This record gives sequence, C-alpha cells and structure tokens, in this order.
Amino acid sequence: MKSVAAVLHEVNKPLEIEEIELDGPAEGEVLIRFTHAGLCHSDLHVMEGDIEGWLPMVLGHEGSGVVEDVGPGVTRVAPGDHVVCSFIPSCGSCHWCATGQQAICDMGASIMRGHLPGPRWPISGPGGRYGAMCMLGTFSQYGVISQNSAVRIDPDLPLDVAALVGCGVPTGWGSAVNAAQVRPGDGVIVFGVGGIGVNAVQGARFAGARYVIAVDPLANKREMAERLGATHSVATGAEAAALARELSRGLGADKAILTPDKMTAEVVAEAFEATGKASTIVLTAMSGFTEQTLRLLPGVVATLYKKTIKGSLFGDCNPTSDIPRLLALYQTGDLKLDELITRRYSLEQVNEGYADLLAGHNVRGVIEHQHG
Ligand SMILES: NC(=O)c1ccc[n+]([C@@H]2O[C@H](COP(=O)([O-])OP(=O)(O)OC[C@H]3O[C@@H](n4cnc5c(N)ncnc54)[C@H](O)[C@@H]3O)[C@@H](O)[C@H]2O)c1
Ligand SMILES: [Zn+2]
Ligand SMILES: [Zn+2]
Repeated sequence: MKSVAAVLHEVNKPLEIEEIELDGPAEGEVLIRFTHAGLCHSDLHVMEGDIEGWLPMVLGHEGSGVVEDVGPGVTRVAPGDHVVCSFIPSCGSCHWCATGQQAICDMGASIMRGHLPGPRWPISGPGGRYGAMCMLGTFSQYGVISQNSAVRIDPDLPLDVAALVGCGVPTGWGSAVNAAQVRPGDGVIVFGVGGIGVNAVQGARFAGARYVIAVDPLANKREMAERLGATHSVATGAEAAALARELSRGLGADKAILTPDKMTAEVVAEAFEATGKASTIVLTAMSGFTEQTLRLLPGVVATLYKKTIKGSLFGDCNPTSDIPRLLALYQTGDLKLDELITRRYSLEQVNEGYADLLAGHNVRGVIEHQHG
C-alpha cells in the first residue's frame, strides 16, 4: 500500500515529504495507522548526524495509532486496538527483558539500522530501500512495525497525548522516579526542561521531592516547569547550585537529572558541582558518539562524597507495563499531558515543527496525521 511520509535522505538537509510503498505485515508484524507523532529532540540528533542511522530513513519514534492488520503469530495486539508505539522494543525473552529491564532489551541495539527483525525492510520509495527510525517511523500515515514495539492502551484515551507516552513522558518521569529514585524529602535539580525534562519535574514532584529546581535558559520552559511541579526555576546551573545549597543548609541537591538538548561536559560538571554527598546524577540527554561528555575535576570527589553517576534509557521503564501505568496516572489527574502539547502540525509542516523546537517555542509539537 501507499503512505505519505517525512524522510531524511541526507544529514543536515530538511525532511522530504514523499509517497512511500509499504509491504503488508509479515510474521510478528503489525500494520498501524499512525494518528499522532511527537517531535522529540532525538530525531534532530539524527538529522544533525549526532546519531547515525540507515538513510534514507522515515523519522519519528514517538507515536500512537490504530492497528489495521496483523501478520501471522501476532498475539500482543489485534485489529482495531489503540496502541502507543514504544521507541524501545521489548522482545520479552532476552536477559534484560527477563530481569525486568525492558528499556535495555537486546533488540534496542539495532533500532537505528532501519529494518525490522529478520532483517525485514517493509518500506521502499524512489530512493530504494527505506529505513524507519527506532523500528517505527511515526512521521508517516501508516507503518509496519514489530508487535514488540506496540503497547495496547485503553480506547477511551485521547491518542494525541498518548503519543507522548512512547518516548518523552516515560523517559523524563522514569529518569526521576526509577533512575534517580527520588524519595520523599529529596532535593532535585532538572537541567533542561523541554519535552523530556518537564516530565522529570512531574515525576520528581509526584515521588515526593521537597524541592525541584528547573534549570533552563528559556523563560517559557521555566514557566511550564513551574506549572507542572517545579518549586523553583533558574536560567543557569550556577544559580541552581547556589539555590540548592541555600535550600538544604549547604548540603546540595540529592538528585540531578540531565535532560538538556545535548549532553555536554559543562552541564555534567554543573550537576556534579550542585549535588551533595550520596547524591545521584542521571545522564538522560544524548550527544554525538565521539563527544567526551564526562570530564570531572576533581573526580576524586565522586569517591569522597559517595556520588553515583548513571545513564538512563527510556527512564528505566518497562514499556509493556509502564506505558499503561503512566496513562492511568493521566486519567487520575496526577500526570499532566495536555499541557505538554504546545502546537499541532500537519505532516507537511514537520520541518516547521522542528524549526519551532530549535527556536525554543515548543515543549512538544505534535503531528496530526490525515488519512485519505
Ligand atoms: N535517554 C533516553 O532514553 C532519551 C529519550 C529521548 C530523548 N533523549 C534526549 O534527551 C534530550 C532532551 O530531549 P527533548 O526532546 O526534551 O529536547 P528539547 O529540545 O525539548 O529540550 C531541551 C531543553 O534543554 C534546554 N537547555 C539547553 N541547554 C541547556 C543547559 N546548558 N542547561 C539547561 N537547559 C538547557 C533547552 O532550552 C530546552 O528547553 C535530547 O538529547 C534527546 O535526544 C534521551
Ligand atoms: Zn524521543
Ligand atoms: Zn528483550
């Protein structure tokens, strides 16, 4: 069948809107009509070459939709189901899935290679064989994805906000709740409160943080962070460090969560400086694979202060259980999702959406797909 999609052909070039050809679903695969796709910063890392993947590639790894058809052997979803697409697949049987760590499922190792397990290449176009970002490619009207990437949700839930629970929401929330293990009374600093960081703010507050300092150079992001649970907000890491000390009689913050648009040695050093003894620093933001982002001086302070520095993928969440769990918190009003959508775009406006993200206008932009 045919679909219209936004395709990256070359690094540092705009996405091209074109008609692609999609094969039907094979064993273990699902044909999905994508209804919504979120504009996460990770797609920009691909467009700018920080994260390398197969090109041409249909971008988009945050999305939701309706199952249209399933291939042989599909048991997780059925036609008509509403689903959230998890940017991390979960096979259910590798060592990591079997030990409750689906976020680091072995299938994740190949999600930028463009193909589905097999390898299977369901997408083609004028440029030949096309890949799909994170085995999804949600910047398309339709997609063929692995059932391991599809999580069925309550059909009453609005699919626009549900799309954000495929990446930004669990990644941010889980960076605070699971990776940093925020405890009642903790002092928390979140560096960078865009689409991911603002959800770290929500998670930290819900987990009982005494204070949550949102750091962002942009006033509109700081305002949203305060609306969604930050007790304080500042423009720089140095201000956050001073404020954390003031709020803790000199102890410093207990937890720092790093969600700026790009991880840098500078922001890691700021977090190292702002946190106190027995603190945890969570590295969530991405950077180029050759960039040295850990450069701490004096590093021995990590030893003397018993500090933990850890990475986190998908907020250490388990997609199959945590996507429905987060949506249940939305239904009770404890997790705010409607507020996260700053602007809606058609697929044709995807480059404008990313220009708005780069200009600092959006917490999250969302593509609303049109069909026929
Ligand atoms: N680990 C994961 O599983 C995972 C998943 C999704 C996204 N990411 C990464 O998380 C990062 C954030 O993504 P996003 O979609 O929220 O991006 P975003 O562009 O929406 O937000 C980034 C925010 O950081 C702010 N910022 C920039 N420099 C800063 C600094 N030095 N100090 C404080 N704030 C600063 C920006 O003003 C912006 O508001 C990206 O690197 C993305 O690739 C990681
Ligand atoms: Zn993302
Ligand atoms: Zn697995």
